[in-house]
Amino acid sequence: MRVLLIGSGGREHAVAAALAADESVETLICAPGNPGMARLGECVRINQSDPAAVASLAVTSAADLVVVGPEAPLVAGVADAVRAKGIPVYGPGREAARIEGSKSFAKDVMAAAGVPTARARSCGTREAIEAALDEFGAPHVVKDDGLAAGKGVVVTEDREEALTHALDCERVVIEEYLDGPEVSLFVIADGKSARAMLPAQDYKRIGEDGLGPNTGGMGAYTPLPWAPDDLVADIMGRVAEPTLAELAARGTPFVGTLYCGLALTSKGLKVVELNARFGDPEVQPILALLESPLGELLYAAATGKLEDFGPLWWREGAAVNVVIANEGYPGEVVKGRPVYGADEAGVLHAGTALDASGQLIATGGRVVNCVGTGDSVAQARVEAYELADGVKLEGGYHRRDIAAGL
Ligand code: AMP
Ligand code: GLY
Repeated sequence: MRVLLIGSGGREHAVAAALAADESVETLICAPGNPGMARLGECVRINQSDPAAVASLAVTSAADLVVVGPEAPLVAGVADAVRAKGIPVYGPGREAARIEGSKSFAKDVMAAAGVPTARARSCGTREAIEAALDEFGAPHVVKDDGLAAGKGVVVTEDREEALTHALDCERVVIEEYLDGPEVSLFVIADGKSARAMLPAQDYKRIGEDGLGPNTGGMGAYTPLPWAPDDLVADIMGRVAEPTLAELAARGTPFVGTLYCGLALTSKGLKVVELNARFGDPEVQPILALLESPLGELLYAAATGKLEDFGPLWWREGAAVNVVIANEGYPGEVVKGRPVYGADEAGVLHAGTALDASGQLIATGGRVVNCVGTGDSVAQARVEAYELADGVKLEGGYHRRDIAAGL
């Protein structure tokens, strides 16, 4: 089959690699893609959040399946435009993607579906913000209501800082702080049934030991050697299935990845966030262990035939991803510096480009992902750090404590 993959980040490079490894995928077209993805398929320049442009590319490239990677095109309605052309698409339509696009919509769906999550207030005025900060107390959790690429959330003991961030947001959600380890579970959904992938853990803060500001994610590993045996079944039964059923009951069935971000709190499992796509940097190690053919799996989901696909198969062992971030991340970054050592298998590109002379340069906040595999998390970690140490970027930075001590 011919697959058109929309996106250009680290998540899409991982998805492209898994699609290219599936024998049923004869042709892979990436739009816009990145220099790493260019080794796996043809890259076509496009505005990925323009529904008409993506739908027309899907038609002219005779795609049998379109996979929409990032949240921005999903929220913009790219999947709807492709579906309207009669082409199977993996990724939710605009309405269902609001589960990620609007924190208050997600809270409303979770309340209706009885899904456990932090208590929250959606605030439009300074008075409401101050009342909510005082109601929940410190640590304060303040979230921009819209899409913010993982950077719209401030968690702080400092009421002034919390208030300043809240006043900077057009609409803001203030919520109760959730303690305990975080887990990400990606659920492949076809609108009627669903399959869980392996659970993973993400390292959100820029600094070691979880210090400093939140980022899109600085590293991840899978599976979770410390997790209870029934964790995945519990998340499916209490979070994913009720959420998917609620979206279907509202007339907007969800086809794509329901990303369940959870905290295992002292009061039980609670949702931190729901997203409408694979998580980055967790999907890289997860797909490194997937043995089932990803193209066939996503095609089955896109055509409502997940029931026929059967259970997913995974390689034994573990995988670890270490992100190399650019100088300044998660703030303003330096663009255009050369990147060396990023051609190894296991190095997945995110914020890279080729300059006029063909030199690979850093253009984004998160530059590359270094994915190692092994029989255990500890072994996979050694391989991931070997790759990370081989990548040279002036001012580049990576955490040394990803998957440490497991
Ligand atoms: P979000 O964009 O909602 O995923 O939030 C980004 C990160 O902020 C999460 O992965 C958590 O590390 C942290 N966070 C968000 N909500 C809470 C909460 N209610 N309690 C504690 N930490 C949170
Ligand atoms: N790993 C965080 C995210 O993809 O939102």
